[in-house]
Amino acid sequence: MVTTHEIATQQRAQELYAQADKNHLDYWASRSRTEVHWDTPFTEILDWSNPPFARWFADGTTNACYNAVDRHVAAGNGDRVALYFEGEPGDSQAVTYAELLDRVSQTANALEALGVTKGDRVAIYLPMLVEAVVSILACARIGAVHSVVFGGFSAEALRSRIDDAEAKVVITADGSYRRGKPNMLKPIVDDALANNGHTVEHVLVVQRNGEDINWVQGRDRWFHDVVDAQPTTHELVWHEAEHPLFILYTSGTTGTPKGILHTTGGYLTQVTATARDTFDLQPETDVFWCTADVGWVTGHSYIVYGPMSNGATQVIYEGTPDAPHRGRWWEIVEKYGVTILYTAPTAIRAAMKWGRDIADRYDLSSLRLLGSVGEAINPEAWYWYREVIGQNNGAGTVHEDGTVTPGPRQTDPVAIADTWWQTETGAHILTPLPALTAEQLKPGSAQRAVPGIAVDVVDEEGNTMQDTSQGFLVIREPWPAMARTIWGDNQRFVDTYWSRFDGMYFAGDGARFDEDGDIWLLGRVDDVMNVSGHRLSTTEIESALVAHPLVAEAAVVGAADETTGQAIYAFVILTEESDGVAPDEAEANLREHVASHIGPIAKPRRILITSDLPKTRSGKIMRRLLKDAAEGKTQADTTALATLADPAVMEEILNGMRG
Ligand code: PRX
Repeated sequence: MVTTHEIATQQRAQELYAQADKNHLDYWASRSRTEVHWDTPFTEILDWSNPPFARWFADGTTNACYNAVDRHVAAGNGDRVALYFEGEPGDSQAVTYAELLDRVSQTANALEALGVTKGDRVAIYLPMLVEAVVSILACARIGAVHSVVFGGFSAEALRSRIDDAEAKVVITADGSYRRGKPNMLKPIVDDALANNGHTVEHVLVVQRNGEDINWVQGRDRWFHDVVDAQPTTHELVWHEAEHPLFILYTSGTTGTPKGILHTTGGYLTQVTATARDTFDLQPETDVFWCTADVGWVTGHSYIVYGPMSNGATQVIYEGTPDAPHRGRWWEIVEKYGVTILYTAPTAIRAAMKWGRDIADRYDLSSLRLLGSVGEAINPEAWYWYREVIGQNNGAGTVHEDGTVTPGPRQTDPVAIADTWWQTETGAHILTPLPALTAEQLKPGSAQRAVPGIAVDVVDEEGNTMQDTSQGFLVIREPWPAMARTIWGDNQRFVDTYWSRFDGMYFAGDGARFDEDGDIWLLGRVDDVMNVSGHRLSTTEIESALVAHPLVAEAAVVGAADETTGQAIYAFVILTEESDGVAPDEAEANLREHVASHIGPIAKPRRILITSDLPKTRSGKIMRRLLKDAAEGKTQADTTALATLADPAVMEEILNGMRG
């Protein structure tokens, strides 16, 4: 049955598309004027006189923190809960917008007291705590540029990010909880800063798990000591629309991560609008839960800036989905009455593997819309997500033998928003708006561009594909939340995204149209892997491997994996120094080495030691053959094999994979 709300939502979406089709610049300007608070209203919409360096709303001034916090308090919504924090051990906090404003103001004062001023960079290396959101917003408030580094990155990865951005302050925690155990962060910061030559003056430490940590006098300060002593009011300053808001590092096709730079006004406009449209977000009544970590762009755009700018109530959760039991997420949905859930296909596939009995124990009837992000969602996971999670209409009966009879199912399926976007795009680019009814949704397709974005699928020459075969996903016109540059490297920005197709942004993804003109994503066409929704570069892992004295040569590939999307496989030729080292031992050493170089998320699933790699006569490694081997093919493709200088190497590799 179609409800009046659904009809209204559909009408609204049609109007948005219609307005945007008329003139996309006027459309964005109008969304910005109505949904973002500007202190000095802008008169210019887009300055594209120096492509690809866009300037949006450049003569206006605003403040991202004011939009995310102050204005809701000013509007009389200070008592609304902004954040329900759920700690892994089961502790919880509800923070209202008024309390958040106090907290953010104190933190802004504290940062200023430590000498942080507008334009300075602050590295944030925190678990999913309220303080993570508070620290981000405090930076935005004073105009300091935050660089959040995901807690799963190693000391070395953290240090390179600190150095690249020349961060003045690091905000971290002693550690958090992970599967019931302390997961320490401060020791990693200590390691990162062990060698001199860095720019960090202070490390602010949030006390979370109370474990013993080392203390560097003069440099380290407890967050609570510095912040709690500050006044709860803070004089706001307005920032130019193009003032840098944050840097977020992401993997590219070379060994060094790129510091993607986002600025204030355009970014805020698009995350505010898309949070509202994609999720049909109703701040007065919804409880929104995005399960991403704040260390990734999803956490920036759809925890901190987008939903908060709308004044939403959100859940944030510190732990993993299986701690202390595999029903933890569903327990949280039930506890807070979550209405919109935004997560990644890899998490859905893990839940599928654990079995629907687990989800069926909980009352998930509050859910009305589900989002997906990070990689294409396979139809099987899409249906499971919708039927088991989305149509669950109350806790089932748990029998003595542990089996569950599910409660009744909702008759109307909930909508699923499969959102395609990137760190670089800042905000949603493709997604079926909830305007599409369940019958129009296509499981596995992100379908169409959000209003006001000019997406296309093109051939090698940059011409729009005329049939349904694979082409390249591009964006033809600048958009408000687009990355402005790579921090400190304008040329790399041009080369990476804007040189493949003249005048177009090239996303690095393959895609195709279907007969209806809907878009299907077909995965990366470059050396970027997607493991559990995390973006990793094959080249970066190869560089880490060859930096080890045991390694002469390395080739890394991403192989298709049922749960994680892709899994990392490395093929390694050892040096003479490895004489006497058993292959098992070498493999274990090298996996650890990658973890310490980049982070545990980059550890290859398997490292195969081999005497040679499949190379063409010109010396190029045929990764496709390695990928086939990693995906379990028992025979190499004969055409590819024929191009190798020594086809016999594949025999050894295929044998090795079988073992
Ligand atoms: O390959 C696409 C994939 O993730 C890449 C962007 O990764 P990152 O910058 O880390 O941002 C992830 C969260 C926005 C894209 O180039 N990707 C992301 N969402 C989807 C997707 N692939 C297919 N469908 C999606 N919905």
